[in-house]
Amino acid sequence: MTVQIAPSMLAADFARLADEAALVASTADWLHIDVMDGHFVPNLTIGLPVVAALLKHTPLPLDCHLMIAEPDRWAPDYASAGARNVTIHAEAVGAPVRTLRAIRSAGARAGLAVNPGTPIDPYAELLPEVDMLLVMTVEPGFGGQGFLDLVLPKVRRARELIARHGGEIWLQVDGGVTEETIGRCAEAGADVFVAGTAVFAAQEPAAAVQHLRTSAVAAGSRCGGAPG
Ligand code: DX5
Ligand code: ZN
Repeated sequence: MTVQIAPSMLAADFARLADEAALVASTADWLHIDVMDGHFVPNLTIGLPVVAALLKHTPLPLDCHLMIAEPDRWAPDYASAGARNVTIHAEAVGAPVRTLRAIRSAGARAGLAVNPGTPIDPYAELLPEVDMLLVMTVEPGFGGQGFLDLVLPKVRRARELIARHGGEIWLQVDGGVTEETIGRCAEAGADVFVAGTAVFAAQEPAAAVQHLRTSAVAAGSRCGGAPG
């Protein structure tokens, strides 16, 4: 497992997205883009035109997290636009196999997300169609929320299911990930960490990314996962 850090642009200044992205370009692995439609979650953020515009201004790959009611309709378009990863929610998707395959066919990695109250086991059969599982560690919709420790057993369970399946599926956590909580996530088996407030509210966002990475690597190696 390799630790990867994905700063969430939800915590950045939306009027200066390219400049904010540049602040973390030297240390981050991804830019995490929270797409919200005001239906699946009670918040409205950015969509395809802004993703397409940002792609021209950052060397970092985009990790698009679609919190939208109709991922079947929209997800492949994000992949076609150039997003390197597109994650859809299990609670919203109508035809997961078709949509995950459409994301891959359009050239992106395919992610599947579950909310805190959604069990992971019913989705084990979908693992062959998936490049990354996202276990939400807050209820989706807003940045700056407190980390939900109650989700950690599910992170562990997801890691077990991935190990049983074999292959290279990443396990992402998103929501309330900070210097204080990232170790617990890594110990539970996560290897891709989204952090909004912990990065963009920091004095030095690039350094904050590196501190998060150091903590995750240390915690992961403590539990024998040996992430690098
Ligand atoms: C929440 C979003 C997260 C959010 C995380 O619905 O999916 O990506 O930006 O923000 P923090 O790190 O502040 O909890
Ligand atoms: Zn997100």
